[in-house]
Amino acid sequence: MFLETLLLLITIIVGYYWYIYKKAHYYFESKGVKYLRGVPFFGNLMNNLLRRTHLWEDYDVVYKAFPNERYVGFTDGVCPGIFIRDPEIIKHVTVKEFDHFVNNKDLFPEGEESILKNSLVMLKDEKWRKMKAALSPAFTASKMREMVPLMIEISHNIVEYLKEHLTEDIDLDDLMSRYSNDVIASAAFGLQINSLKERDNIFFKAGKDVFNFSLFQSIRMIFSDHFPSLSKKLGFTVIPKSTSEFFRTLIASTVDYRIKNKVERRDMIQLLIQLSTEWTETELAAQLFVFFVAGFETTGNTLINCIHELALNPHIQDILYEELKAFKETKGNLVYENIGELKYLDCVLNETMRKWSAAIFVDRICTKPYVLPPPREGGKPCQLKPGEVIYNAVNSIHMDPKYYEEPEKFIPERFLDENKHKIKPFTFMPFGVGPRYCIGSRFALMEMKILLFRLMLNFKVLKCAKTLDPIKMSPVGFNMNIWGGSWVKFQARKA
Ligand SMILES: *[C@@H]1O[C@H](CO)[C@@H](O)[C@H](O)[C@H]1NC(C)=O
Ligand SMILES: *[C@@H]1O[C@H](CO)[C@@H](O)[C@H](O)[C@H]1NC(C)=O
Repeated sequence: MFLETLLLLITIIVGYYWYIYKKAHYYFESKGVKYLRGVPFFGNLMNNLLRRTHLWEDYDVVYKAFPNERYVGFTDGVCPGIFIRDPEIIKHVTVKEFDHFVNNKDLFPEGEESILKNSLVMLKDEKWRKMKAALSPAFTASKMREMVPLMIEISHNIVEYLKEHLTEDIDLDDLMSRYSNDVIASAAFGLQINSLKERDNIFFKAGKDVFNFSLFQSIRMIFSDHFPSLSKKLGFTVIPKSTSEFFRTLIASTVDYRIKNKVERRDMIQLLIQLSTEWTETELAAQLFVFFVAGFETTGNTLINCIHELALNPHIQDILYEELKAFKETKGNLVYENIGELKYLDCVLNETMRKWSAAIFVDRICTKPYVLPPPREGGKPCQLKPGEVIYNAVNSIHMDPKYYEEPEKFIPERFLDENKHKIKPFTFMPFGVGPRYCIGSRFALMEMKILLFRLMLNFKVLKCAKTLDPIKMSPVGFNMNIWGGSWVKFQARKA
C-alpha cells in the first residue's frame, strides 16, 4: 500500500512538473520568442541552484546564446520571463513607458505582514510612490553632507586597525562588513559602534544572519517559489521571524528612548518617527530592514571587489594613489563639496560596479498591457499582459564586448571624460534605472569613496597567497561574493 501511494505521489509530482515545464516553453513559442530549454523544476537556473555558478552566470548563458535577438526567454524555476538584451528597449520599459512596468517582481511570494514585501524595493504602485516621497528627505544633499564626518571617523577606525595588522592576511569580507555595519548603525540608527572592538555587537550579528540561510530556509524558499499561494496560506516567510522582530523591536525601543529622553538626531529613525502616524510598524521596520541590507551587503561587497581588483592591478593602484596624494596636498581634507573632484576614484568605483554589478538584472512586472517591438528583424511584436515578468539584463550588458572592449579587464579609463562618449546610454546601470533608481546611490558612493580615500593614502594593497586571481564569484547567495572569500595584505605607505 505504501509503495503504491509513493508511486502515485511521484507520478503526480513528475506529471505536474512536466506540465509546467512544457507550459513555460509554450509561453515563449506562442510569443515567437527564442529560449533555451530549461530543466524541469530548475528552469535555466540549474547550475546556480546546484551551486556550480553564480546566479548572474546562469542569466549570462541565456544572454550569450542569442546574440542577434533583442530579447529572449528566461525560465526562473518554473516561471517564464522575457529577458531584455537591448538597451533601447530597456530605456522604453524602465523610463519612457514606466507606467506599464511600475513594480518589481516579488523576490519571494510572501504574506502581507512580511518585512521584505513592505520594503521600498518591493512596495507596489501608490504605496511605493508615497513611501518613496516620504523617504526622500533622508537622502538630500544636506543630509549627505552631515554624513561625511561620521564616515570619516569610522574609516579612521579601519585604518587604525590595519596599522596593527600589517603582517597578516586580511579577510576583506569581515573588515568591509564591519565598516558598512558601523556606517549604517550611525546613519540610520544613530548608534556609535566600533565593530572592530565590539566584535559581536547585535547589529553585526543581525547583518550576518539575514542572508545566512539554513537548509530549512532554502527549502522553504524553493517551496514558496513553486507553490506561492499554498505557502502564503501556510504563513511561510523566507526572512526569519526573528529578523523582522529584531527590526521591529529596534524601532520601538529607539522611538521610546528618544521620546523619553527628548533626543533628536537627524537620522533615518528620526524620519521614520515623524512618519509613524501614517504607516504601520511593519511598514516602517521594513524600510530600516532594506536600508540595512542594502547598506550592509551591497556596499560592503562593492568595496571588497574594488580593493581586490586593486590588489590584482597594481598599476591602476599607482594612478589612483597619485590622484589621492595630489588632492591631499592641495585640498587637504575631504568634504562633501570636493569629493566629486576625485575623478579617477570615481572611475575605479564605476569600473568595479561595471564588472561586478550588485544589480544582476532589473526585473519588472507588467502592470498595463504593452507591446514589445519584434525580437528581430521580420519577427512579430510580443504582447505582454499584466502580471507577466521582464528581466532587463544589467550585468550581461556590462560584460558584453559589443559595449565594452575586453570586458574581463579592469580598465577604469573607460569612464574618463575623453572616453565616456563610447559608453552608450543604458549600458551602465549598477543602481538600476528610471524612477525605481536606487534611492541610496549617493549615500553608497560617498561611503565607499571616503573609505577608499583613507585606505589608499595609508596603504598599498598587495596580493597574498590566498588572493583569488582571476576573480570568480561564489554561487551561494545573490550578492557578488568572491569564491572562498577575499584575502589581501596591506603595506603601510611612507607618510
Ligand atoms: C551561518 O549559520 C550557521 C549556523 O546557523 C553558522 O554555523 C555559520 O557560521 C553562519 N555563517 C556566517 C557567515 O555567519
Ligand atoms: C559613475 O557612476 C555614477 C553612478 O552611476 C555616475 O553618476 C557618474 O557620473 C559616473 N562617473 C563617471 C566618471 O563615469
